Amino acid sequence: MAYTIGVPKESAPGERMVALVPEVVARLAKAGATVLVEKNAGSLSFYSDADYESVGAKIASKEDAFGADIVVKVKPPTDGEIALMKQGGAYIGFMNPLDEPQISAHMAARGLTSLSMEMVPRISRAQKMDALSALSSIGGYKAVLMAAGHLPKFFPLLTTAAGTVKPANVLVLGAGVAGLQAIATAKRLGARVSAYDIREAVKEEVQSLGASFVELELEGQDSSDSGGYAKALAEEKAKQQTKLLVPFIGKSDVVISTALIPGRKAPILITKEAVEAMAPGSIVVDMAAQNGGNCELTKPGETVEVQGVTVMGPTNLTTEMPVHASQLYARTLLAMLQDFTDENGFTPKPDDEVFTGSCITQGGAVVNERVKALLG
Ligand code: NAI
Repeated sequence: MAYTIGVPKESAPGERMVALVPEVVARLAKAGATVLVEKNAGSLSFYSDADYESVGAKIASKEDAFGADIVVKVKPPTDGEIALMKQGGAYIGFMNPLDEPQISAHMAARGLTSLSMEMVPRISRAQKMDALSALSSIGGYKAVLMAAGHLPKFFPLLTTAAGTVKPANVLVLGAGVAGLQAIATAKRLGARVSAYDIREAVKEEVQSLGASFVELELEGQDSSDSGGYAKALAEEKAKQQTKLLVPFIGKSDVVISTALIPGRKAPILITKEAVEAMAPGSIVVDMAAQNGGNCELTKPGETVEVQGVTVMGPTNLTTEMPVHASQLYARTLLAMLQDFTDENGFTPKPDDEVFTGSCITQGGAVVNERVKALLG
């Protein structure tokens, strides 16, 4: 029995990505799916309707794309979009379940089986489905380019006829996926890079990229937990941390901050005092802006200037590289679709670890315990 996969055009303001790119649609069509791509869904990512048609997709209306058996999207669906989805259908995409649990509640009420790309477990089998990591790499890269574009200095050491200029000092706070890509990008541009993370485990990775690892004299510093995520620092330790970071931030031309513990507000690592310690002309790019920011002065989605220091709080860096962002995201969705469909459509095994980890709603109810708790 043939089944349909719907690819609506993203409706969130400024969002240029599309959930599936032609390369991936070709694979799905070959596997027997009918892919319904909303008219112009890929146009802001530079994939035309003709590109999709040439690999077997059908160009469809918004209603038909949302009415498919399985809907795939980038941004969480709006209430109006949920209402267009088929009762009892399936959804795979971002849902922001821990910050906006009411979206999940509405999807449950529509009887949807929904898989949240944010909740795909970080286990080896699911690496190819890890959309957050794929997009964080783009974010880390783009954050450094933004900083380099605004810094009134060179990144590399340069020897010119007029003498030598010193390389820029770049400090990366949080050396997870985005942070490591930021380090690598800043190194490629020739900056002198250092990085800090509460997880000692990342020290070697940081050093292997040619950056130095900042060590703070915090008691019981290693905060790796079994899932590889950092645990929250106790309040007292967090205060100590921000204080100890001030001199490191003060001597940096650029600070890229990416520190986050999933499901929590971003920790403050860059105080007003630290920003004031930076030289005028310096730049802070706070990648955690969407989650409250790592810098006290960050305004999400805005750029502010404080005593000559520019503090940027971008909230959607990936949309600025929509070709590769969509391509990488589509590949993670393909991996999910390949695991959870057969010739009859959406047929996940109920005890599959990736399915149980990422499934938020099923059978008319919210089934994820964390989201359930948030909804009270
Ligand atoms: P990740 O979980 O791989 O890395 C976060 C790192 O922060 C971890 O290594 C963790 O140990 C570290 N960390 C947590 N608390 C810390 C503390 N108090 N001090 C020092 N380090 C601490 O996360 P990922 O994927 O690298 O994402 C990082 C951030 O970038 C997230 O906030 C994510 O939402 C954001 N992001 C933002 C984008 C944008 O457009 N602004 C685009 C993509 C990602």
